[in-house]
Amino acid sequence: MRIGVDYYPEHWDESLWEQDAELMKKTGVRLVRLAEFAWCRLEPSDGDFDFSWLDKAIDIFSEKGIEVVLGTPTNCPPRWLCEAHPEILPAGDNAEINPIGIRGHRCLNSPVFRRYAERIVRQMAEHYRDSSTVTAWQIDNELEANICYCESCNKKHIEWLKGKYGTLEELNRAYGNVVWSGEYSAWEQIDPPYGGYNRAWLNPAYMLDYRRRTAEDVTEFAAFQADIIRSVIPDAKITTNTWFCSEMPDFYKLFEGLDFVSYDNYPTTIIPNEPEDIYTHAVHLDLMRGIKQQSFWIMEQLSGAMGCWMPMQKTPRPGMIKGYALQAFAHGADTVVHFRWRTANIGAEMHWHGLIDHSNVPGRRFEEFADLCREAENLTQYIGTELDSKIAVLYSVESEYALGLQPQTEGFSYMEQIKLMHQAFARFGVNVDIIGESADISKYRIVCVPALYVVHEDTVKKLCKFAENGGTVILTARSGVKDEHNNCIMQQLPTVYAELAGCHVSEYDPIGWGTGKVLFTDGESFTCKQWCDIIETDTARVLAQYDSDFYAGSPAVTLNLYGKGEVYYLGTFGERRLYEKLARSALDEQGIEYFPDLPMNVEVTTRSSEGGSVRFVFNNSKKEQSFNINGEEICLRPFEMKYI
Ligand code: GLA
Ligand code: ZN
Repeated sequence: MRIGVDYYPEHWDESLWEQDAELMKKTGVRLVRLAEFAWCRLEPSDGDFDFSWLDKAIDIFSEKGIEVVLGTPTNCPPRWLCEAHPEILPAGDNAEINPIGIRGHRCLNSPVFRRYAERIVRQMAEHYRDSSTVTAWQIDNELEANICYCESCNKKHIEWLKGKYGTLEELNRAYGNVVWSGEYSAWEQIDPPYGGYNRAWLNPAYMLDYRRRTAEDVTEFAAFQADIIRSVIPDAKITTNTWFCSEMPDFYKLFEGLDFVSYDNYPTTIIPNEPEDIYTHAVHLDLMRGIKQQSFWIMEQLSGAMGCWMPMQKTPRPGMIKGYALQAFAHGADTVVHFRWRTANIGAEMHWHGLIDHSNVPGRRFEEFADLCREAENLTQYIGTELDSKIAVLYSVESEYALGLQPQTEGFSYMEQIKLMHQAFARFGVNVDIIGESADISKYRIVCVPALYVVHEDTVKKLCKFAENGGTVILTARSGVKDEHNNCIMQQLPTVYAELAGCHVSEYDPIGWGTGKVLFTDGESFTCKQWCDIIETDTARVLAQYDSDFYAGSPAVTLNLYGKGEVYYLGTFGERRLYEKLARSALDEQGIEYFPDLPMNVEVTTRSSEGGSVRFVFNNSKKEQSFNINGEEICLRPFEMKYI
C-alpha cells in the first residue's frame, strides 16, 4: 500500500517546503499531489508561463524520493483570463454569467476556454515530460456534469439532438412533446432547462437527454486533456478524481479513456446509533473498484474534521484515520492520498482539516497517520492483488439520473437501494462488486439489480442469459418502468423483466414514509416501506405476502426458476433484515461460502493472487468487537483492521 498527501506549495511560505518534505519522508509518505488549482501561478499573465516555483517544490520532493502526481489546473482559470474572455464563464439557469470568486468557474464547452486549457496542459506536459518524479496526472478536479446555460452549451445541445434524432418530427415523437403543446417547429426553439420553476414540471424525456449530454461533456473534456498529455508523454498514467456529487458524471464512460480511477473518500465521522442506518463507505469503494474492474486510488482521504461551507463535523475518532485508509486498501485502493498535509490557514477551506492543524504542531491524528504509514509498508506485498467476487450489484447511471429527475415516493433513493443490496451480502463477509450496465456478468453467480428503472435491451438479454445459465438474479420494484427515452412502457410491470421474474404487477402503492408488513411462508415477518407492488404470479412461486393494507394476502416477494437459474422479485423495499434473508438464501442456493455469524459492522474482504489470499477484517464501529472467523478468535478495537 502506498500513502500520499495532497499538498499546496503555493499556499505556504517557501521556507516550509523543505521541512514539510523532510517530515513526509520521515513519516513514510510516498507521493504528493500538486498544482490542481494553481493556474494563476503557472501562467501569471496571458502566455507567460512560470514553472520555476513548481520545479523547486518538485525538486525538493524528488530529493526525498517522494513521487508527484500533477493536477492540471483547469478547474480555476485565472482572473486575467476571465476578464479578457468572460465568455469562458459558465452561465446560471437564468442565462446570466456566474460571478467568479469560487472555483469551477469555466464552461467546459467554451471554445476559448478550450484553447487556453489546451495550452496550459500542453505546457505542463512538455515541461515535465522527462521528469522521473512526476509519475501520474490528475485531470482537473472533481469534474461534475457540465450544467451550464451559456450560448456555446445551447448550441452544442441542439447539434447533439440533431445528431441523435435527425428530424424534429422524430424528436417530438420521442419526447411526447404533444403534451402541453410542447412540439418544436424549429430547432432554435430548443432551450436548456432554465430555472424559475420546479424541474419536475419539465418533460422527463427532454431532461434525461439533457443529463446525458452534460455528462458526455465531462467525458469528452477529460479525453481532450488526456489526449494532449499523451501526445507529449505517450505512456503517462492519467486519472481524474471523482466523487458522489449532485450532478454525477457517467463514471464508466469518464474512465474508459483514462488509466485508473481515483476517488475522494470522506467517510462520515458521525456514527449513527440507529442500526438501520448504513454509514459504511465500503459501498462507494466497491463501486469505484467496479468502474474499471481494477484497483484504484484514493486521491483525497479523510484527515480531520470536515467543514467550511457547512458547519464543522466531529473530528475523526481514534482509529478512523488509520482504519478508513486500510478499509480502502481492503477494497482495492492500492494508493491512498490524504487530503491534506496541513490545514489551510487561508482561503475558504481553512476549516476542512488536514493531518496537521493550523498551528503546524503534529498531534493525535498525525501520530495515527504515521502509524498508518508504517503499516502500509507491511501491506506493500499485497499491492496488485485482486478482489475476486461471485456477487455483483448492478448500478445503472441512467436509472440514477432518471430516478433523480422524478422521485418515486417519499424516502426512496436509488443509491440507498444499491447500498441495501450491497450491505445484505457484504454483511456476511463476501466480496461484492458493484458494476456498470455494460459489464460482463458471466463470471458472477449472483447479480442484484435494484430498481433498474430505464430499460436497455442489452441488459435484459444479458440478465436472461445469466439466469438461463444458472445464475441467481435479484430484481426489485421499479424495474422496467421506462423505455430508453424515459417514457413509461405500455405493459404490466416489470414489463421486459416479467418473463424473467415469472410474475406481473397488477397495481402498486407508493406508501412513502408509511410502512407495512410482509410475511414469509416460513413465518418470518418484516417491515416494508416506500413502495408495494401488488403481484400476481405467472410461473413464479410466492415467498412472502403482504400482511397489511387492502392487499394483505397478495404476493410481495416471489421466486422464479428460469433456465438453470433462479430469479427473485422483491415487490417492496424494506428493512435491512429482509435483504439479508434473500442474500442468505441466494448464497446457500449458489453454494457460496460466507460468515453467517459476523457481528454488525465487522467487514471482511479477501484480496487474492496466484500466490494466495489475504483476508482483511475491519471493525467499522465505535465499540470493541470479539468474534470468531474460521476457528480464530479475533478482537478488534473501534476502527481497527487486522489481516489474516
Ligand atoms: C473536494 C475537493 C478538494 C477539497 C475537498 C475538501 O474533495 O476536491 O479540493 O475541496 O473537497 O473540501
Ligand atoms: Zn456553457
